[in-house]
Amino acid sequence: MLRITHYFLVPILVIPLLTWAQIPDTQCLRCHSQSNLAKTMNGKTTSLYVNVDSLKASVHGEFRCLSCHLDLARENQYPHLLPPKPVDCASCHSAEGQEMAVSSHWHLTQADRTDAMTCASCHGDHVIKPAAGSDSPTNRRNIGKLCLACHADQEVVIGSGVKVSAYERSVHGLEVFVKGDTVAANCVDCHGNHKVLPANNPASPVYKHTVPQTCGQCHKEARINYLNSIHGQAMTKGILEAPVCTDCHGEHTIQTPDSSLSSISPSNVPKTCGHCHENVILTEKYGIASERFSTYQSSYHGVANQYGRTVVANCASCHGFHEILPPSDPASTVHPANLAATCGHCHPDASANFAKGKMHVQATLQNSPGVFFVRRFYYLFIGGLMVLFILYMILDYSGFIRRRRERRSSK
Ligand code: HEC
Ligand code: HEC
Ligand code: HEC
Ligand code: HEC
Ligand code: HEC
Ligand code: HEC
Ligand code: HEC
Ligand code: HEC
Ligand code: HEC
Ligand code: HEC
Ligand code: HEC
Repeated sequence: MLRITHYFLVPILVIPLLTWAQIPDTQCLRCHSQSNLAKTMNGKTTSLYVNVDSLKASVHGEFRCLSCHLDLARENQYPHLLPPKPVDCASCHSAEGQEMAVSSHWHLTQADRTDAMTCASCHGDHVIKPAAGSDSPTNRRNIGKLCLACHADQEVVIGSGVKVSAYERSVHGLEVFVKGDTVAANCVDCHGNHKVLPANNPASPVYKHTVPQTCGQCHKEARINYLNSIHGQAMTKGILEAPVCTDCHGEHTIQTPDSSLSSISPSNVPKTCGHCHENVILTEKYGIASERFSTYQSSYHGVANQYGRTVVANCASCHGFHEILPPSDPASTVHPANLAATCGHCHPDASANFAKGKMHVQATLQNSPGVFFVRRFYYLFIGGLMVLFILYMILDYSGFIRRRRERRSSK
């Protein structure tokens, strides 16, 4: 954006240039208003026709050809002696120019690439409109389309395996593309517009530990609750294994919790949390119990959940989601003092006794000897039964073969 001071600079810079360059636009338009003017290079034909009407209707409508095509002012020859240089938009828009210069878009596409990115790749050249206008490609309603024009094509974005096109069907994309809403997140809300950087660069708004702040621009309450949680505290301490918003929600695939496609729908929550809490190495590192997923899956709630009963308790029903705290914290929904209330949401007559006993039974001799022995007994009993049964089948079959052989040889 141009600052007020820059607006004063523009006439100071431009007016002398224009008077110095005595060439009026009509000179250029002698040739360039011809709709069939074109050049062919390497077998590719490019039109050199300039539509003056759209130039006049653009933000730069007051400008003359030479305000931008500076080098041609000095040349003063037709046809042009030297191939005209690319226009330097940053000569007036220095702030945007500086941001672009450090972006991946700039440096990844400069050397030896045919897809070199310029300001015109996004803004156009002679038809630039202010972003506030709904016909501008940089209008909030159109930004998704603008970026996807390149990013839906994985061939273009060689380095990154990220499937960006999923954005169109995400809760944010649907708001924009289907409802025409301009409040939902678009590409630049999460990535920035000119200073697009890789996700592993700490200056990027999508750098893991900056994500809560980036999403929190709009989801303020979620951010505050998250920051107070054990996960948020761990993230603030710099623990990279702690989840941020996108570990639970995804980034381009974010869905509303009601959607069956959502990573946080009642049937998918256990998998999403289990991704980390099943992991023995990770949980040992933080001194917390592992196998939270498998112990849940084999609980009555887990079994019912696998059969598609979404009314049963999933991880989030007992632990909460953004405000998760360790069971030892008195504010935790799973602190012993709060369990009756937590279970009581669904089991209205739950007493303190109802909630006694371990929820995630790993069934060791120490924590639940009853379950441990019953389970051991069943393993042995059922295992033994299976072995005996197979043995019986083998004996019976070999007896059958032997008897048939005897019958044949006796004939
Ligand atoms: C006598 C006709 C003529 C006039 C007058 C003329 N041009 Fe051109 N221009 C051409 C032709 C032909 C080409 C393509 C061949 C070349 O690059 O020299 C061209 C190429 C260009 C290009 C480069 C396009 C590209 O992609 O390579 C620009 C920019 C341009 N002209 C701008 C201008 C401006 C600004 C003026 C006025 C100062 C002007 N021209 C005056 C004929 C003209
Ligand atoms: C706001 C700055 C600006 C103004 C004003 C402007 N141009 Fe351009 N022009 C560009 C940009 C940007 C390009 C894209 C190529 C590049 O980056 O140099 C371009 C490209 C061209 C081309 C190449 C063909 C094309 O359309 O891509 C011609 C010819 C041209 N300009 C002529 C003119 C003429 C004639 C005028 C005046 C009537 C004019 N320009 C005014 C910025 C401008
Ligand atoms: C000679 C200086 C100059 C050059 C070169 C120039 N611009 Fe501008 N640009 C301006 C000024 C001055 C304005 C403000 C016009 C207004 O608000 O009416 C502006 C407005 C804009 C706007 C709209 C900003 C807004 O607040 O609505 C965009 C986008 C823009 N320019 C992009 C470009 C791009 C892209 C290029 C290169 C193709 C370019 N400009 C080249 C001076 C320039
Ligand atoms: C990758 C696409 C992309 C490129 C490349 C790009 N811009 Fe932008 N630019 C945008 C988007 C999108 C916006 C609107 C931002 C928003 O809504 O936050 C914007 C906004 C602007 C604005 C303010 C416009 C307004 O109406 O508020 C100016 C000025 C501008 N860009 C100039 C430039 C210049 C100069 C360059 C080259 C140095 C450039 N841009 C390169 C996408 C791009
Ligand atoms: C003209 C085509 C084009 C447009 C339009 C475009 N991009 Fe890109 N983008 C690229 C290319 C090419 C790369 C580099 C890919 C590579 O080499 O890995 C890239 C890279 C990226 C990267 C990865 C950066 C990195 O270093 O890993 C992000 C993020 C990105 N673009 C976001 C955007 C956003 C947001 C927009 C819209 C404002 C956008 N792009 C518009 C072509 C485009
Ligand atoms: C520019 C604002 C903005 C940003 C940034 C943003 N969102 Fe959203 N988000 C919205 C809007 C608007 C909606 C749709 C309205 C609603 O349901 O709240 C939405 C919807 C959602 C929903 C569905 C909510 C529901 O109840 O259906 C989730 C989940 C979500 N966003 C997560 C995220 C995450 C995670 C991030 C960061 C990676 C993020 N959002 C970044 C504005 C934003
Ligand atoms: C709600 C926020 C959000 C929105 C909206 C969003 N992204 Fe992303 N995007 C992210 C996050 C977070 C990552 C980082 C993923 C990771 O850590 O690997 C990412 C990664 C990327 C990457 C790979 C970057 C890299 O360094 O590997 C590209 C390219 C990209 N996004 C382009 C886009 C485009 C284009 C759009 C719009 C169509 C878009 N994104 C919309 C949040 C978002
Ligand atoms: C540990 C996993 C996890 C993390 C981290 C997480 N969420 Fe959520 N989020 C969930 C779950 C689970 C739900 C669904 C709750 C439900 O069923 O209603 C949810 C719901 C939401 C909703 C919709 C319901 C509401 O509260 O409005 C939004 C918006 C949202 N999250 C945004 C965020 C943002 C922003 C962040 C980062 C600051 C974040 N989430 C971090 C798991 C998480
Ligand atoms: C990206 C990995 C990751 C995901 C996904 C994740 N967690 Fe965690 N969780 C952790 C880490 C790491 C810690 C330990 C933080 C510490 O102690 O500093 C933790 C701590 C916890 C604790 C506290 C344990 C204790 O006793 O201290 C609970 C409870 C918890 N998570 C539940 C959940 C639930 C429920 C979900 C899903 C909604 C979930 N987590 C998703 C990584 C994850
Ligand atoms: C019916 C309620 C309930 C459900 C469903 C539930 N938990 Fe728990 N969880 C508890 C209670 C109560 C505790 C406290 C200690 C205990 O009983 O094991 C706990 C403890 C934990 C701990 C802390 C262990 C430690 O070492 O301090 C983690 C991590 C955890 N649960 C994750 C999960 C995950 C992941 C899921 C889903 C796959 C889940 N929980 C489902 C009630 C539940
Ligand atoms: C989100 C709601 C919800 C929460 C919270 C919840 N449960 Fe359940 N629970 C159910 C439903 C529904 C069933 C019936 C499952 C089935 O058989 O289909 C069930 C079944 C049970 C059963 C099996 C016997 C029975 O009554 O059918 C026990 C025991 C149980 N829950 C204990 C608990 C405890 C202890 C807590 C708290 C730590 C808890 N539940 C929290 C919904 C919940």
